Amino acid sequence: MDKLVINGGKSLNGSVTISGAKNAVVAIIPAALLVDGKCIIENVPTIDDVSVITDILSQLGAKIKLINKTTLEIDCTHVDTYCADNSMVRKMRASYYLMGALLGKFNKAVVSMPGGCDFGSRPIDQHLKGFKALGAEITQENGNYSLRADQLVGSHIFFDVVSVGATINVMLAAVKAQGLTIIENAAKEPHIVDVANFLNSMGANIKGAGTDVIKIKGVDFLRGGTYSVIPDYIEAGTYMLMAAGVGGDVIIKNVIPKHLESISAKLIETGANVVEYDDSIRVINSSRLQPCRIKTLPYPGFPTDLQPLAVTLLTTASGTSYVNESVWDNRFQYIDELRRFGANINVDGNTASIEGVSRLEGCQAKAVDLRAGAAMVMAALMAQGQSEITNLKYIDRGYEDLEEKLTNLGADIKRICDFEGSPLNIAN
Ligand code: EPZ
Repeated sequence: MDKLVINGGKSLNGSVTISGAKNAVVAIIPAALLVDGKCIIENVPTIDDVSVITDILSQLGAKIKLINKTTLEIDCTHVDTYCADNSMVRKMRASYYLMGALLGKFNKAVVSMPGGCDFGSRPIDQHLKGFKALGAEITQENGNYSLRADQLVGSHIFFDVVSVGATINVMLAAVKAQGLTIIENAAKEPHIVDVANFLNSMGANIKGAGTDVIKIKGVDFLRGGTYSVIPDYIEAGTYMLMAAGVGGDVIIKNVIPKHLESISAKLIETGANVVEYDDSIRVINSSRLQPCRIKTLPYPGFPTDLQPLAVTLLTTASGTSYVNESVWDNRFQYIDELRRFGANINVDGNTASIEGVSRLEGCQAKAVDLRAGAAMVMAALMAQGQSEITNLKYIDRGYEDLEEKLTNLGADIKRICDFEGSPLNIAN
């Protein structure tokens, strides 16, 4: 099994450039199914989730070319199957976007039930509610969802919960439906705006993405074109939190500072210095941080995907902090791993109370999911002595060149490869 060996206690200094957004690109690639013509997608991160979703599209008959490290050409004109029911689809959470995209393209879809990181129950009832409102009949058989409509017709949909996946999925299905679809209580994450911008640049008519009401007027045809994916605000937030927790002076480049406001605000509250520029952000810290309270919320609230890194940040603060997870039922499964570093954390329901310790100690720990994996790396960078982090398949799903980027910032981090293992068999 591959592992990262990290000698902690070294400050981070210099600059790091943020890659394209994982949670945008894993929706934009399946959205290309709706386009008649070639889509050139730029600023695509080199991560395992992208390999998996492009492999799934290729299996459906899409022609995909890597133009350069960050640019893909996707042509789905000749895709003629609406069935995506294989083990790769089952391993990946974002494969649920195949439902909306295939339904929008063919008025029918057969898609395996999605897998993904384990944060407790991960229902897709709101996705299904949206598809039904557009006129689809849905059955479930042998681990697959089968969706079928004579003709998708626009509808007024009010989501019961704010869901990123359901908002994007219904947008995908509605983009070529007959008439007007209105989504109320839509999610507002930057990747929702990015998927809408991608579809609009190909000829769709979507208004209101980024607010909680999205209006989609169905069009007959989407043409090919070129689109550049937004920077990954979760990757940017990861480096912001690492800079503050490990200490140092880091400029995080290629970001949209507006997307990072909830993170900047918390870092300032803990005593770190944050400076915003047009498309970069600088985090400086050389002292012990103050404790604070954080509650994860849908955007623009503090992102759940940074919760494990925020908890790690607070493990050495000068007092007791409280972090409440309000998006997922069970996203504290990594806490036992964090305790191996000497962190003093008590979990009660959806709240972690973190008693700051004077320092973390190096240890062996494993990634239990993608963001928890990044949190283990952060703890190892903060700790005195050597740590080994295993289960890197999770980290590789969503962070491009993590060790290279950290090495450039002065971290002592090396990947030891075990060539017998298979690093590429899990995705979300
Ligand atoms: C997306 O997952 C992200 N994944 C997750 O990031 C992220 O944690 C999450 O949004 C919240 O921001 C991708 O974009 C691929 P949701 P998603 O539907 O869409 C409940 C990462 O680390 N819900 O917004 O699956 C659900 O149980 C990943 O990059 C329903 O009840 O999340 C949860 O409590 C991990 N019914 C809440 O809504 C539904 O039909 C938010 O889920 C759908 C969701």
